[in-house]
Parts: sequence; C-alpha cells; structure tokens
Amino acid sequence: LSVPQPANEPVKEYRVGSVERTALRNALQAAKAETRELPMWINGQSVFTKNKLKVTPPHEHAHVLGYINEGDKEHVQQAIDAALSARAAWGAMSWEHRASIFLKAAELLAGPYRAKINAATMLGQSKNVYQAEIDSACELIDFLRFNVHYATEIYKQQPYSPTGVWNRVEYRPLEGFVFALTPFNFTAIAGNLPTSAALMGNTVVWKPAYTQAYSAQVIVEVLQESGLPDGVINLIYVDGPEAGEVIFNHPDFAGIHFTGSTSVFQTIWQTIGQNIAKYKSYPRIVGETGGKDFIFVHNTANVDEAVVAMVRGAFEYQGQKCSAASRAYIPTSLWAAIRAGVQETLKSQKMGRVEEFECLFNAVIDERAFNKITGYIDQATKDGATIIAGGNYSKETGYFIEPTVIQVADPKYRTMCDELFGPVLTVYVYEDDQLEDTLTILDQTSPYALTGAILAKDRATIDYLTKRLVNSAGNFYINDKPTGAVVGQQPFGGARASGTNDKAGSSLNLLRWVSMRTIKETL
Ligand code: SER
Repeated sequence: LSVPQPANEPVKEYRVGSVERTALRNALQAAKAETRELPMWINGQSVFTKNKLKVTPPHEHAHVLGYINEGDKEHVQQAIDAALSARAAWGAMSWEHRASIFLKAAELLAGPYRAKINAATMLGQSKNVYQAEIDSACELIDFLRFNVHYATEIYKQQPYSPTGVWNRVEYRPLEGFVFALTPFNFTAIAGNLPTSAALMGNTVVWKPAYTQAYSAQVIVEVLQESGLPDGVINLIYVDGPEAGEVIFNHPDFAGIHFTGSTSVFQTIWQTIGQNIAKYKSYPRIVGETGGKDFIFVHNTANVDEAVVAMVRGAFEYQGQKCSAASRAYIPTSLWAAIRAGVQETLKSQKMGRVEEFECLFNAVIDERAFNKITGYIDQATKDGATIIAGGNYSKETGYFIEPTVIQVADPKYRTMCDELFGPVLTVYVYEDDQLEDTLTILDQTSPYALTGAILAKDRATIDYLTKRLVNSAGNFYINDKPTGAVVGQQPFGGARASGTNDKAGSSLNLLRWVSMRTIKETL
C-alpha cells in the first residue's frame, strides 16, 4: 500500500445560510437538548460508575452537558489488561486493514460527524465555530490521513542488501501498552495521541483531560463506527496520580504520548526513572509541554501585520493554544501605532457564548484557570504595570476574561516569564538601538522554546533574527502569528522545557511508536 501525500481538509466557512451552518446549529441544539452520559470505554464496552462528575460549558454554568463516569485503580488495570489482550491480533493485522480503519474515521469526521464533533468542542471547551472547525474537524482529519501517509513511507524504507544477503527491517509495535495523556485545548491532539500510536500497531490506554470529556465521547463513537477492534484504545477517567500508580508500575508499560503541563511531564519522567528496572523495555517518552511563546517586532515590520499577529496570536481561543503568543517585544518607534491598532481591533470584537457565532472571544476552560489568570492580572496592576487593553473579568455566568494587554517596564517581570495559558499578552517596549540586548533577554528569560514569531521586512534582518534565535522556538514564524500550525505543512513541537520535540504529525513522531527488528538472511 502506498498512500500519496494527502491534501489538507478544506476549512468550511459557516457563512449565513450555508448548509454547514444549518447542520451545526442543529447539532448544537440537539446537544443542548440532552444530558449525555460520558462513560469510560474499556475493551469496546462503555463502563458506567456511580461517581458522576458534572460537565458544564465553560461559558454557561447554568447548563449541564453531561456526566463523566469516573473510575478507580481497578478500571486502570482493566484497561491495561484489555490493551495487552488486544495486542497480538492488532499487531498481526495487515497494515492495509489497520490504516483503513483510521482513514474511515477521517471520512466520518469529514462528513456525518463533522457537525457533532464541532458542536461538542464548542460547548465543552468553549471554542467558537471557526476555532472548532480548524481543530476538531480539519486538524484531526489531517492527523489521521497524514499519519497513514507517513507510516507508508516509513514501512517502505529497507536497508541495502548486497549479493548473497537479504537484509531487512521489521517495524514492530512496542512490546507492551502505550499510555496517551491528552489535554483539553485541542480535540485534534486528544484524537491524535492515542490513534498515532495505535496506527503503528500498538494498543493504548487513553486518559483525556476531564475538561475535554464531552468531545472525547464523540471521538469514541467515531472510532467504534470505524471498526476499531475492542481493546485497541481504552479510555479511562481516573484521577491522575491514582492512574499513574498503576500504569507506571506496570512491567508492560512501553511508552507515554503526552501533551500537557511541564510540571506534570517532569513528575511523570521522574516516576518512570524511579521505576526503570521494572520495565521490560526502556519506555518511549514523547511529550509536548509548556510554552512562553513570543512575538518579536523589528522596526522594519509592517504595523498592520504586527497588530494582526498580536491579536490573533495571543487571543484566539482565549490564549489557550500551546502556541499562543504571551509576550511581545515592540520597538519604541512603532509602539504608538501598534498600541492604537491593538486597542482598536480588540474594541471591535465581541466576547460571549459560543452559540453567538459573531463572538470571537469566549470563556476560559475552568475555575482554576480563571483564578490563576485573573490573579496575575490583579498583581500586575498592583505592581504598577500598565493595562493597555482589557483587564476586566467575571465568572458569574461563565469564566470570562477580557483579552488583556499589559505593558511592563521590566522585561523579566513575571508575566513575561511564567506560563499563564490565558488571554493575556505582556508587552515590553525596547529602544530601537537595543536590539542585541533585547534578543538576549528574549532568548533567556523563559525556559521554554515552543513557538515564536518575528516581524521584519528587511531580508538581512530576517536572516539574522532567524539564526540568532535558533534555539528559541521549535516552530518559528516569519511575518505571521505563532499559532495555527497545519498538519503536513508545519510539523509541531518545541524543545527546552516545551517538550521532546518529536513533532506531532510527522514521521519522526511515528518512529517513536515502533521498535525495529533487523534481520540478516544469508542466501
Ligand atoms: N496546532 C496548534 C497551533 O499551532 C497547536 O497545537 O496552534
């Protein structure tokens, strides 16, 4: 089987009167008309428990979307057992058959499930229609199709065989089960982490963020309908440390595919290290973690482009993309124009519930995020920083925080360094002739290196900045915002404290989920 490089799934526009807009409205209505059970999914069975946790839209406390059925250690054990029992048949299945299941999932998401998964992402994670469309429809579909293509390229690669010898390599699945631990902020990532490992023949225990459970349920429905055999992917809702105790102590633990916070990833890595002698093989540790993503504006930049990069880069999806810009360095000569442009653009945009399609900004994910972000805003005001835009918030009906721009005099002030994961952009205005010092500060104030953007119009400057900031970001954007990586176009991931940089949606990532066997046969 050879699968040609796919084209990206076209992004639908949801114009007034369009078929897709009507379908989405209907899906939103249907979702709100029922309260869904959100069971675990172990060995192909829905597992209900007595411990029901309420799920509400981040933008509407008064509505109940459904109930997570939370389990315990026994369920984790059951999920591992199911994964291990399914392993032999799944690994032995022809590659064409395995691939066809995920390609079918992509077709279902592109067609009959598109409105349902977008509605779930909108309601459960407070993404507006456009953000949901590029995430739970296009990006997830692209992950599935491109991964199948990349896998066929991997399987084709064979070593050289001189006369009299037949050399070959087998791309075996890992010996054990893979644990996928996924975040709330992208339904696509939640779908990609378990399916990419499974595509390479592995069986998986998947623990989504509880705040993504509502759309995770739709992913499960799609996988079921695609014909995924029982036990290949097993979804659990169990408290993190409790689940970790069972998983990281298991001799068949073969790897973790993770997206989430740096501190959780570091704790997991330490736990794996402590348990290393227990495992059959050295586990694969693949993680995308925190970020403190930057925008650097040079005085040759176009002001309008800089304004768009800042507003869209920092505030789309309330700054909760791992790639979202959260610090900006602006030259004094352009600051007045950029400040006015940012203020004006933000003033022209609405914040509200996702059902109001015209709202660009919605709510942040939960109370913990709300309290953390607003705490930083309040402290910044007390510390004498200038609020350039926004600054107001309310959690009365939903977790709403205005897109907030803070100007600081100290480029090492805490909001320039700490990850807030919310709609806050901190700006440091530098003297035009202090370029070198500013670049040094940019590179050194944060431990992270996920994404970054530079805006400049002069070729020599662009080349210089690109070289000078070689280790500051895993995804580096020139004259653009630092968000919105497209599968197949910009493989995504960062280094330093931002992760292992195994690029989601790439052959490099898929290679982490195989264990090669080299065979030499003398003829
Ligand atoms: N793909 C997302 C972005 O680049 C991050 O996962 O914004």
